[in-house]
Order: sequence, then structure tokens, then C-alpha cells
Amino acid sequence: MLTETISPQLRENFVHLIAQQTGIEIRSQNYGSLSDNILSRVKALRLPSPQAYYDLLAGLDYRGEEEWQQFVCLVTNRESYFFRDKGQFALLRQSILPELIRQNQRTKILRICSAGCSTGQEPYSLAILLRELIPDADSWSLNLYGVDINRESLDHAQKGLYNVWSFRQVEDEIKDRYFKNLAGYYQLDPRVKRAVKFQQVNLVRDPLPRPEWDLRDMDLIICRNVFIYFTDQAISKVVEKFFQTLKMNGYLLTGHAELGAHHVKAFHSKLFPESVIYQKRNSNFSAGAPPATRYAPPEVKPSALETLAQQLDKTKINGVKPPLRSASFGVNSAAPKTPAPAPAPTVTGVNPLLAEAQTLVDSKSYHLAQKKLEQILQQDPQNFGACYLMAELKANLGQYEPAKDWCQKAASHNAFNAKPYHLIAHIAEEQGNLEEAKQALKKIIYLEPNAVPAYLSLANLYRQEGDLNRSQKMQKSALKLLQTLPPETTFPELGHIQAQELLAQL
Ligand SMILES: C[S@@+](CC[C@H](N)C(=O)[O-])C[C@H]1O[C@@H](n2cnc3c(N)ncnc32)[C@H](O)[C@@H]1O
Repeated sequence: MLTETISPQLRENFVHLIAQQTGIEIRSQNYGSLSDNILSRVKALRLPSPQAYYDLLAGLDYRGEEEWQQFVCLVTNRESYFFRDKGQFALLRQSILPELIRQNQRTKILRICSAGCSTGQEPYSLAILLRELIPDADSWSLNLYGVDINRESLDHAQKGLYNVWSFRQVEDEIKDRYFKNLAGYYQLDPRVKRAVKFQQVNLVRDPLPRPEWDLRDMDLIICRNVFIYFTDQAISKVVEKFFQTLKMNGYLLTGHAELGAHHVKAFHSKLFPESVIYQKRNSNFSAGAPPATRYAPPEVKPSALETLAQQLDKTKINGVKPPLRSASFGVNSAAPKTPAPAPAPTVTGVNPLLAEAQTLVDSKSYHLAQKKLEQILQQDPQNFGACYLMAELKANLGQYEPAKDWCQKAASHNAFNAKPYHLIAHIAEEQGNLEEAKQALKKIIYLEPNAVPAYLSLANLYRQEGDLNRSQKMQKSALKLLQTLPPETTFPELGHIQAQELLAQL
């Protein structure tokens, strides 16, 4: 049995190497599984030490290259399923793809790339959608590309064979039309399968565009649930490559809140009720985008207010979105990080220890942060900031019940601060506990004069329960409140949209 351990310095070297090679940021809460993965490879390769394994990975020869193929399988999360995120697929079906189809009607050529496509469900969903939208699809040149760093995932994708778990968001009608049931496994229709080409690409290290692989002039690049694992530096690098790989007026779609404003300066952001999408409107990446415009009024559906409220489900309530599906990331070293755009609430006040704990939480050093917070609470058990930060920390670790307990403690020490209720509402919604979420949102409305997002969230919850009367009442309140706010008021929970823009959209 291998009893070797990995020194903190060597572990740091691995973390740095992984970020450099793949863009993936290994966070402190995943150091344990990172060490396990490294030790398992040391054992499998019969190497004398973890240092020897590091040297192999860091070396420039072909053996190192080959080993990376194994190692990325251990550090990447490959979770995917068909038509993941109904809102974004509705946006693609109703607005984005019809627009691209119209624009390319003359040439009948469409070029779409799913970057970080994992086992293929995302590009195949797009291929299915295009067949649904284009009556004469066979006379079009539909070029879909699925690229990923993980060779094993791409092998799986190329087979086009899936188990039932991949269809958890798919109507039976679509499943029956495009898949053949082979004793519990589902084989994709060969016409759809043919439309997608897969290619192993490391988004961080490989150059893009890449004409020899036909990765160029894309109408649409979709890259979801990839950047949440990346370092900020890697995100910036890859976003620029995407910009260069898009056609003029082409679109980039990412997961919700995966990009900060600084990443997408060069793009024109279009806010739809279901999602933000980024459009390339000029050829110079560093020039920055022209001033943002609203999306065209005809695209606003009568239920825009409702769907905006729905979007709140997918974004943060107060700048803290816990890695909500952390349980399903079991064997992987990389856990999704807190998405970027909304600034974290300042809880530090003047207490320097608390400021240090906040910095540690921000850098995901949860273990050290917890120690610091315990120290503060020992001296001052009623410290609101420490209790709230502890709640945030627990939520970021996916420990929801303790997180809610700490919120309650924080609230009992400062009854006029709404922050704990934001976090409770968010966690409760994710847990499917609508009653608890509603109670927390009502408290926010009571405590915060500008609680437009809370009204919209409540409207959405009532709608989910079928109480349309109450839902409309909440929507009206949101609208009324919005009319009283300065036009430049921004809402981080809604992609930093300004009050004036939100008002116009509603
Ligand atoms: C969680 S999956 C997302 C799959 C799909 N986009 C979805 O949303 O359902 C993340 C994918 O990103 C891939 N990935 C991670 N780092 C990458 C890199 N540097 N280059 C290309 N793909 C990468 C992983 O291999 C994994 O398949």
C-alpha cells in the first residue's frame, strides 16, 4: 500500500501546473481528492514518489503528453445531459437559431461549436434542434463541432449511445423521434450523429481559430459549465480565442453568470429573459463593444416579467451562489466555483480578523477561514459578520443546513440586515423548499426598500405553485418599485442590468 503523502509545496506545484495546462482551478476544498488522484496514478505507474509523477507531467516528452490524457479524466467534470437548461434552449429555439437560419438562408451553411462538449449531449441537442427548426435540413450544410480536452469523453460522444439519465430534461416525443431504444440504451439517429464532428482540443493551450480542423467562422459558440472550473486568467484567454473564432455578428453563449463584465468587454451583451448572450459586433477584440442596446421589442414575450423572475432562479440572490450540485462532483478534484458578477456583500466592517477571514473565503481557503471565524466567535459570539460569513462558507461547501443555521444566528444578532435571508431564500429554493424560500423573500421585502429581485423571485414562486393572482401582484409591485428608483440603479442578480433597462424590458 502506498503510504506516501504530498507536501503542501508539491501540492501547490501540481495546482499551478494543472491551471497552466488546462485552465482548471483546483480549490482548497478539493485538495484531498487531488492528492488521492495523484497517489492513484503514482501507484498505477509504479513510480517511486509523487515528485516523480509531477516531473512526468511537467516534462515535455511524449510520455508526459500521454499521461495528461489519463490525468485530465481525473480532474475534469464531465457531467452533461440533453437539452440542459431549458431556458437557454428555449432562447436558442425561439430567437437565436431562427435568426442565424434567416441570415444564412442564401448559403444554407451554419457553423456551430460546442466547446467543452463532454460526452456529446450538448452538440447533439443543437443538431436535433436544427432539424426541428429547418424543414429542409438535409439540403443544408449543418456543421456542428464538439470539442473537449477529454479523449475518453469524445470517444463516448462519437458512439452516440446514451443511458436514460442523459434524458432527464427531454420530452418522450423528442427521445422517440431521434433515438432508438436498444435494451435500455438509446442510440442516436445516424442523420443527427453525422452532423456533429468531434475534435480533441485544449481550449487553453491549443490555438483557435484552427482552420485545419475547420474551427473558424462560427455562427455560434456555446460553452457552458466549463468556465466555472477555470481560473480568471484562463477564462480571459479562452474568451479572446472565441472572439477570434466567431464570424461577425456571431454569438457566444455561456452558462449563467460564468463570465464577469471584464471578460466580455469586446462583445455586445444582449439580455433575454432566459439568458444573456454575447454578440461579436466588431473585429477588434481590444476595442470594446459599442454601447449596449436592448434586445428588439418584438422578441419580448407577454410573459417577459415572469421569465425574468425565472432567471433569478439561475442567478445569485446576493452574490453568493453555493456550488449547489457539489454532491455529484464526487470523484473530481475541481468543484464549480462561485460565479463572478455580483460583488460579495461586505461583512468585514473594521475587524481585521474578519477581513482576513473574508479574504480566505474569497480565495476558497475554507478550512483556514473557518479557523479564523471560530477565533472571532470565541471572543465575540454575537458577531453578525462572523456568523454570516460562516453561513456563506458552509453554503459554498454545499453544507446547506449548517449554512441556514448560521444565517439564523446572524439574523438574531442583527434583525435589520437582510443578507442572511437572501442566502436562506437561495438555499431553500435550491432544496425545493418553496415555503421557506417565500418566507425569507418576504423578510427581504420588509427589510430592503429596493427589493425588486425579491419581488420577482416571489412572483416566480407563486407562479410555480399556480397562484397566478399573487404572482401578478408581486410582479406589479416590482414594476411599481422600479419606477421609483434612479434609472442607473443596477441589479447584480439580473446580470447587472440597470433599472431603466429593466423597466423598458418589462
Ligand atoms: C461539466 S462538462 C460541461 C458539458 C456541457 N458543456 C454541458 O454543459 O452539459 C465540462 C467539460 O469541459 C471540459 N474541459 C475542461 N477543461 C477543458 C479545456 N482546457 N479544454 C477543453 N475542454 C475542457 C471537460 O473535459 C468537460 O467535458
